[in-house]
Amino acid sequence: MERSLPPGPHGWPVIGSLFEFNADPLTFAERLFRHYGEVASFNLFGTRFFIFFHPRAVKYILVDNARNFTNREANPELRQIIGDGLLTLDGAEHRRHRRIVQPAFHRTRIERYARTMVERTERLLSQWQAGQELDVANAMADLTLEIAGDALFGAELGAQAREIGEAFLAASEYANLPVLSPWRISLDLPFTNTKYGKYVRARRHLLEIVERIIQRRRTSGETGEDVLSMLLASRDEEGTSLDDVEVRDHVLTFLAAGHATTANALTWTFYLLSEHPEVRAKLLTELDDVLGGRAPTVGDLPNLPYLEMVIKESLRIFPPAWGQARRAIDSFELEGYRFPAGAFVAVTQWVTHHRADLWGDPEAFRPERFAPDTPEPPAFAYFPFGAGPRICIGMPFALMEARLILATILQHYTLDLVPGYPVAPRALIIVQPRFGMRMRLIPTRIGTHHGYAYI
Ligand code: HEM
Repeated sequence: MERSLPPGPHGWPVIGSLFEFNADPLTFAERLFRHYGEVASFNLFGTRFFIFFHPRAVKYILVDNARNFTNREANPELRQIIGDGLLTLDGAEHRRHRRIVQPAFHRTRIERYARTMVERTERLLSQWQAGQELDVANAMADLTLEIAGDALFGAELGAQAREIGEAFLAASEYANLPVLSPWRISLDLPFTNTKYGKYVRARRHLLEIVERIIQRRRTSGETGEDVLSMLLASRDEEGTSLDDVEVRDHVLTFLAAGHATTANALTWTFYLLSEHPEVRAKLLTELDDVLGGRAPTVGDLPNLPYLEMVIKESLRIFPPAWGQARRAIDSFELEGYRFPAGAFVAVTQWVTHHRADLWGDPEAFRPERFAPDTPEPPAFAYFPFGAGPRICIGMPFALMEARLILATILQHYTLDLVPGYPVAPRALIIVQPRFGMRMRLIPTRIGTHHGYAYI
């Protein structure tokens, strides 16, 4: 027999669980799983959300019944920043746009960006010095933005990278507040130093930068095979091209989705390697054996299996995209409950990737979990790039980029967390280190018979 809707905390009158959710959504989700099991509900300003923790719900919502679940209404905060790009379109519109841009992300196409990725990383390394302390989170955000700008849009972002990164952060700090939260209602004065004021300025600034990138390409008349060329040249079956706002929103989406994710994946990987010298030593040995100090190419990647395992395990422990929200079009049944049409639902990597019943010792950083001869994790227990028709279009780009950047940097420097530096995850749209990540650069030297020694 069907039960009523899943249980969950009552929260406060009117606002529901707003405070607990806003203070730390990751801990909040973990607590819901511990108290309520496979599915729980909670309220934010009278809207009820249902959050699922089992891989079978991931498969049900993201894959098998993907057409019954929309992104747009479930992610108003994303729309405020990036408008109507792939992440926020639904149904036939989403399929049409995905078809247009998909070829630009094909593996053979993105392999051409490998050289740009390594060159940009080497340029960054030329500015680093042994013993220097720096915020690796900022350094990786700038690097991945420059790479995305160059590879996808042929744009030299250079000094603007920091501004763009900060603008995205300011925008997501505001946009992440639930729509009716008191901070949003009372402080919506654009010309003050409120979160809203910063958001308005940040969004205006982002639009100017993106419009300039597009304008430059239009006036130069250049054609290429990057994402921007594909967007500008695209025609659907009726011969209609994308209008200016559509192109702009795609560019914004790719910049937003394509840099903070990979930058945080790299930052957390450097952190995990610093905390696990035995893993780092094994990785350095592999890099030494295969590359012997030279810059990596895309052809080297199949020979660096441990590098891939390290990144996969890092994406399990610190999944940059920590959850996906959807809104149900029709009512549906799942986990023994019947949910009404219009229900807001979510799945979360953060909890599912850390379930002891699926992962054994989930908090241990063990890249060997992903060794080729080890049994695969249960289906949909691991989904750092989402799943189904909306799986991350940039996954091959991101995995190639993360491996090339890590291999390039680690052959020059190993990064150690500054002793005592506080590390805690903070979930905005992306999971990032709450206080940044201050690390010290230690030169990597080829050691005695095998591998590396540290000064
Ligand atoms: C480690 C890096 C990355 C992670 C963890 C990641 C994660 C994800 C996830 C979980 C989704 C699914 C969202 C959903 O189902 O609602 C997604 C979608 C998407 N990602 Fe990524 N991503 C990464 C890198 C990138 C890069 C490099 C790009 C572009 C260059 C990119 C562009 C996109 C786009 C456009 C979508 C929307 C796809 C659609 O709805 O059709 N991502 N990503």
